[in-house]
Amino acid sequence: MTMLESYLTLKAEYEIIPMDADDCHAVSILHGESFARPWGDGEFYSLLSQDNVFGFVARQTNAFLKKPLPGFVLARQIAGEAEILTIAVQAKVGRTGLGWRLMQAAMREAKLRGGESIFLEVDDGNAPALGLYRKLGFEKVGERRGYYKDAHGSVSTALVMKRVLR
Ligand SMILES: CC(C)(COP(=O)(O)OP(=O)(O)OC[C@H]1O[C@@H](n2cnc3c(N)ncnc32)[C@H](O)[C@@H]1OP(=O)(O)O)[C@@H](O)C(=O)NCCC(=O)NCCS
Repeated sequence: MTMLESYLTLKAEYEIIPMDADDCHAVSILHGESFARPWGDGEFYSLLSQDNVFGFVARQTNAFLKKPLPGFVLARQIAGEAEILTIAVQAKVGRTGLGWRLMQAAMREAKLRGGESIFLEVDDGNAPALGLYRKLGFEKVGERRGYYKDAHGSVSTALVMKRVLR
């Protein structure tokens, strides 16, 4: 097998590592590709500088060339309650388990920091995210009707979901 052939058949492998300030630019690019209202580098940087905010990024460990960031999660933990602030996985590598691994890392860290439960908000029409959160054991604890508005002015409901951190 030539080098090119082995490169083309290579199965991507990823590690999940803590997010740091140097990741903020790549994180904001992926955020912008994933959400209607993008957050800038500065917003991520200022969130991450807060003691109670933490995040993780996925990094391909067997890439020959530098690739765009495959995924990230950002969370906050205050007085026993944690919250997922945002999470995204590049569409190209979706449904390969990265969202699951990023969420597991965030929940583990939240528990280590003394979290007893973790909350998040999700658009009730976001089937991939709802599938992920339900599979992780999150349950609906509330809803906010008309909470999200897309670029065309249509509104949708935000579900508030919770999972106990055992
Ligand atoms: C939601 C998101 C983070 C999921 O990441 P992912 O890496 O694709 O998820 P995983 O591969 O870990 O999938 C875990 C589970 O989630 C569910 N899931 C993921 N993608 C799905 C899809 N397209 N349709 C239905 N269920 C889906 C499944 O239950 C899946 O388990 P399975 O593959 O064993 O059936 C990703 O789709 C994303 O970044 N979406 C855009 C940004 C976003 O909506 N973020 C959440 C805002 S609240």
